[in-house]
Amino acid sequence: MRAVDIIIKKRDRGELTSQEIEFFIKGFTNGEIPDYQGAAFAMAILLNGMTAFETADLTLAMARSGQVLDLSKIVDLAVDKHSSGGVGDKTSISVMPMVAACGLPVGKMSGRGLGFSGGTLDKLESIAGYRVDLTTEEFKQQLKEKGIVLTGQSLDLAPADGKMYALRDVTGTVPSLPLIASSIMSKKIAAGAQAIVLDVKTGLGAFMQTLDEARKLADLMMDIGRLAGRKTVALLSDMNQPLGGAVGNALEVIEAIETLCGGGPADFREHCLHVAAHVLMVGQRANDFTAGRKLAEKSIADGSALEKLRVLVQAQGGDVRYVDDVSKFERAKYVEVVSAPRSGFVSQVHARGVGEAAVALGAGRAKKGDPIDHAVGFIIHKKVGDQVQTGEPLFEVHASDETKLTEARQAVLEAYRFNDEFVSPLPLFYE
Ligand code: URA
Repeated sequence: MRAVDIIIKKRDRGELTSQEIEFFIKGFTNGEIPDYQGAAFAMAILLNGMTAFETADLTLAMARSGQVLDLSKIVDLAVDKHSSGGVGDKTSISVMPMVAACGLPVGKMSGRGLGFSGGTLDKLESIAGYRVDLTTEEFKQQLKEKGIVLTGQSLDLAPADGKMYALRDVTGTVPSLPLIASSIMSKKIAAGAQAIVLDVKTGLGAFMQTLDEARKLADLMMDIGRLAGRKTVALLSDMNQPLGGAVGNALEVIEAIETLCGGGPADFREHCLHVAAHVLMVGQRANDFTAGRKLAEKSIADGSALEKLRVLVQAQGGDVRYVDDVSKFERAKYVEVVSAPRSGFVSQVHARGVGEAAVALGAGRAKKGDPIDHAVGFIIHKKVGDQVQTGEPLFEVHASDETKLTEARQAVLEAYRFNDEFVSPLPLFYE
């Protein structure tokens, strides 16, 4: 078998066999198949798609490219949650501690930023010392002892996805149903989750822009989950506008911490409580949604969720003082509050526009391995449905240089649309 023939077959819309997929993923993981062929393979899949069987084979091949953890001897039921990616989506940083505080062990492997969408690992690295490279042994040990892990892909867990993910970020091969489904589910399967909650985003700032596409992605991932014997639930949530207020690495972690302290923007808090309630349900800590939500609310009110975040940060080598004093986070040199250019109702805050502007500020990468600037980003003050008066604060730009600040201000102003008539707020969840 030759990698080039497999690429050609997919380029010409052929259906790959399990053996061909296995061969490609093995070779790509061990370096025999170089990055440029990996990128061509990803592009052929993006352009021509994959059948459900091919996608399941790709997922399992990527999950088996390293170790597949069996956590059943470590915890009764290991639960995981994963978002399909969006702008301002810092949900895991709040939800994982909430759920762990309710006595449900949660171990999660997250990713870095992907295109215009942020990544949990990049965000967490705004906390000095926080390690995202735990070994498999450390992952298991920490899950057993602390009941919470939030790390990156170790070299021995789904390494094929780790390599492919970094390539896709910079080769225009992110928005592909089979590539996203296999990327997410291979990580979940390898990390040993027995029950999984998927937060599938839809809208202008999601990889799946229509509800129909998002539903297809959710169905595909649930099928893969069942095939692999994992209980899998999917929620379809809005990503037309950024989630919450903060967009950018440190700014988002600060907002996640504020939310655990009982503050934070109302939409983000509501989103987190909803996701946490579902995680508690699949994790058999709550019999129904209302009970799950109450538990999650309690974890914020009694401070136990915040305490779990401290435990997590400390366990992974981070400076826990950042959790108690958010002024420790690196701040951008320039902060400008931008006012509303007109009065009316906000009818759009184009999430992708804001996400791309954040990447241009330095919050994301233009090419593989680029350093990122943790301090830069935006605070979105006015969201869809809000009424504004000319001159009222609309958003803040946090930038490291003046030229970038000017460009970012313009880009986010262009992401906004206003209406004279009343505009309803966007729903948080569709299904
Ligand atoms: N999250 C992932 O882990 N992978 C993707 O491809 C998209 C979102």
